This record gives sequence, structure tokens and C-alpha cells, in this order.
Amino acid sequence: MTAQDFVPPNADLDTLRSAADTCRGCDLYRDATQTVFGAGPSDARVLVVGEQPGDQEDRKGEPFVGPAGRLLDRAMEEAGIDRDQVYVTNAVKHFKFTLPERGKRRIHKTPSRTEVVACRPWLDAELDTIGPDLVLCLGATAAKSLLGPSFRVTKERGTVVPLPEREPTRVVTTVHPSSVLRADDREAAYQELVADLAAAAGVLD
Ligand code: URA
Ligand code: SF4
Repeated sequence: MTAQDFVPPNADLDTLRSAADTCRGCDLYRDATQTVFGAGPSDARVLVVGEQPGDQEDRKGEPFVGPAGRLLDRAMEEAGIDRDQVYVTNAVKHFKFTLPERGKRRIHKTPSRTEVVACRPWLDAELDTIGPDLVLCLGATAAKSLLGPSFRVTKERGTVVPLPEREPTRVVTTVHPSSVLRADDREAAYQELVADLAAAAGVLD
């Protein structure tokens, strides 16, 4: 099973978004609150791909509205990427988590390769519709979805490569903003993120 059966052909973003509400392409829809589709203008020059919605995104139905999103917004502004020309989405559109003890925050779980592959048709449909100049992968899940399972973020972060089968679109991978929030040296990790985003911004000149 994949999302392919649920993706309407040649659809605009609003049509895709409503179709994704009822996706059953993998099991993740069962426990999550709702599908969190991408958000932003259909003529965005930059398409940002995260991993999956977090706790707050799952509740609100919007991507990158929690702490990682706020850090991302600040870093993009500092790197000179105009937020108005950015569409944000995720490799996987449902929140995967483990149920905590009562009253505790739900704990994020990394999606499996199978779930990432199952959800990829939505990401392809977003790429088809938007046709960005630059794709920005945040973290290993996004990078492996678009560049293959052998991609290594630590080795290849900040480098500009062509997006396979979608040239002239370029891809730059950096770390996930939530890893910056967890880093021992948060300021250094943040500056490295901004440096990667600045390298990515060069594609747009
Ligand atoms: N982390 C992600 O990867 N995506 C979101 O939408 C929020 C946090
Ligand atoms: Fe469909 Fe993706 Fe949700 Fe799985 S995670 S049900 S493929 S939208």
C-alpha cells in the first residue's frame, strides 16, 4: 500500500490537500489527529521538506508551527531566504509517536523507510505542482526520501546537488532544526544551520 491510490492526477494544491485528508496509504493515519499537508504559495521558489509533523503540528494541522518551525523561520530570515517564497512540507504527512504515560507529551518516533516510501507520492505531487528552483531537505528522513537511503547528512550537508529526475531543480540538505534545539552547543549548531541555508540561498540569485 502507498499513497499513490489517493493522489488525484494534475490537481492543484487545495485539491491535493483535501485528498490527503483521507489518505490510508500506510498505518500512520490511525493514531494521528489529522493529515498535515504542506503550506505556502503554489509558485514558491523554495520547497522545504522536514521529517513529519510534530506534536503541535498534529494538533493544529499545519507544518512547522512548533518550536522547530520557529527556529527554522529565524534561521531562514538570517540566511536571506524570503519566507514569503517558501513552501514547507514533510516527507511523511502523519505524526508518528509512542503513547506516553497519562498526561505526558507524546514522544516522536522516526518514520520507517516503508512509511517514507508510502508517503512519497504526496511529496512528488507537491513538487510537480510547485516546481521549485530549490528543495531544502531538513535532516536524514527528508534527504533519504529524495536522494536515496545511502545519503549521509553529516558528510554532504550544505552542498548543492541536482534533484534526481527533476533538473534543473537543486537540492541542499542540512540538519533538522529540532537537532539544533537538542545540541549541546546550541549556538554553534544554529550557526552551522544558517551557513547551510545561506549556501542554499545562493541557488536563488
Ligand atoms: N518537524 C518536522 O519535521 N516537521 C514539522 O512540521 C514540525 C517539526
Ligand atoms: Fe498517507 Fe502519508 Fe499519512 Fe501514510 S503518512 S497515511 S502515506 S498521508
